[in-house]
Amino acid sequence: MDGAADLLEALPLPALLIGRDARIAAANASARTLFGPQPVGRHHDTILRQPELARAIGGCLLDGQPRQARMSLSDGAQASLWEAFCRPAGAAGAVLVTLLDATPLEQATQMRRDFVANVSHELRTPLTALLGFIETLRGAAARDPAARERFLGIMAAEASRMNRLVGDLLSLSRVESQERIRPKDAVDLGALVSDVLKTLRPLADDSTVRFDFAPVEGVTVPGDADQLRQVVTNLVENAIKYGGSGGLVAVGLTGGAEARLVVRDNGPGIDPVHIPRLTERFYRADTHRSRMLGGTGLGLAIVKHIVNRHRGRLKVESQPGQGASFTVVLPTA
Ligand SMILES: Nc1ncnc2c1ncn2[C@@H]1O[C@H](COP(=O)(O)OP(=O)(O)O)[C@@H](O)[C@H]1O
Ligand SMILES: [Mg+2]
Repeated sequence: MDGAADLLEALPLPALLIGRDARIAAANASARTLFGPQPVGRHHDTILRQPELARAIGGCLLDGQPRQARMSLSDGAQASLWEAFCRPAGAAGAVLVTLLDATPLEQATQMRRDFVANVSHELRTPLTALLGFIETLRGAAARDPAARERFLGIMAAEASRMNRLVGDLLSLSRVESQERIRPKDAVDLGALVSDVLKTLRPLADDSTVRFDFAPVEGVTVPGDADQLRQVVTNLVENAIKYGGSGGLVAVGLTGGAEARLVVRDNGPGIDPVHIPRLTERFYRADTHRSRMLGGTGLGLAIVKHIVNRHRGRLKVESQPGQGASFTVVLPTA
């Protein structure tokens, strides 16, 4: 059986060879990590302790037919899900059990389900409002011009919310599909920031927010100009929206081996419990406030993907009550 043990050791998956006597004849290192250090010679059932897998192995030993079983393991901290394959091995009636870690697949499936549920929910809210107002305009408000104007205003706002949401979803999927394609344009970040601030001037004026930015020259990164514009826009927009009216939004840009962009506000800041999750899709520290301000909850998810594509880093720092600062670091070569 030595040759068999060597072969098992070379397999990238956890693998065990079960003899005709139902005892473990060999187990590779990955299998020993899962099931304990000295399984050889013991009955498979006392080592594996998985009823469904035991049935599959037992059946395969009896009739030599391949079988498959699922099992979940837990090391106390984390649960993992495994697909076990039992195959007859050789003339001596042994069974080879190989295990495939199905945890990442399961997690991806769960994420996709959550995402679809979230998108449906986010779209349904404005859609329900629109349907309600259409009903009202046809009935009670049909001959009331003042009410009609007001309702049309709300309907326009709800429709734009849906439009923003769909727009953000499209950019998210575009950025994701390009994540492995390296961007190559030379992007002048100083000019880009000045330009974004000019575009956001009206929004800042609406909330009497002042910008603090000293124009910078010569900070250039290899990048995708449109996407980097999206990054700066999202961060400055958030600083304006969440930083609160009458505040100051400070944007700093420095060059060198890395370009460092800092967007800082002096609003209410973010509780540390939320910070690690801010870049998740639809995650909001303050759902009510985000919705009121027309947010989709996708801005920072888009920012994170764009920064990843540029091989950069995003850092969020905040003390509640003392504003928030978002730093993007990008390689300049
Ligand atoms: N500068 C900031 N100050 C306080 N909270 C912020 C700031 N920027 C982002 N947040 C929080 O992070 C959440 C996620 O931001 P984002 O992904 O841009 O979504 P949204 O569409 O809600 O702006 C926001 O809902 C808000 O709760
Ligand atoms: Mg935002």
